[in-house]
Amino acid sequence: MKILDWLTNYNFDHNLSYSCIVEDLKKKNTLVLIENFPLCDNDFQFFIDTIGVSIIENRNNNRQAVFDVKVARQNSFFESIANSNLAFPLHTDCVDFNSIPNCIAFLCVEPASLKEGTNSFMFLNNVIKQLSENTIQELLNKKWKFRNQSRSILTIEDEQYKICYDRITMESFSEISKIEIDKLNKLDELFESNSFNIKLKKGDLILFRNDLMLHGRNGININSNRLIKRIRFNIDLKT
Ligand SMILES: [Fe+2]
Repeated sequence: MKILDWLTNYNFDHNLSYSCIVEDLKKKNTLVLIENFPLCDNDFQFFIDTIGVSIIENRNNNRQAVFDVKVARQNSFFESIANSNLAFPLHTDCVDFNSIPNCIAFLCVEPASLKEGTNSFMFLNNVIKQLSENTIQELLNKKWKFRNQSRSILTIEDEQYKICYDRITMESFSEISKIEIDKLNKLDELFESNSFNIKLKKGDLILFRNDLMLHGRNGININSNRLIKRIRFNIDLKT
């Protein structure tokens, strides 16, 4: 699988075209990578608010838009799953929100060593081609509980398939039969076989669609200094 076909590269400088970046994000199969981005919360938030509308959450830095994804423990417990050293299987973010943000940005401030903490991605568009019509219908029709939200894994919006998938949340809030587990396992295998890895380096800012892609990462050492700053945001898809 050729990653470069789907990676739109920019360098952070005065020529950076914000409108081009928004147009890239509107496409189905594009990941946007901006290299040499400043490692500062204010610059990060200002940039995202220029191309879209960031999601403010209480647990973020200063209750604003930036969240530090790093290993953080209080006593012997991780502060949250995002603050653990665990691997994250391919998923959608914010599946239990009233409105799921359509984009995510990761700014790499401190990469993990060697092969640790590698990000993985998967384009829904590539997977759809490999699903039978029956399976697509099932994924469109069957509703799953994502905490207080009832949603299907696939939806169609503006004649485009969109995905909402987070198996940990689904299995936590839905009663799932053995047959359904087998189907989800097969789906996971298909997602994995269509995924590719990107190892971010310091100053890399990666932007991607949360409704058209799944993302994950492999595990990291519990003592790792890896620091990824994250902003979830919405771009206007109607204009
Ligand atoms: Fe995530």
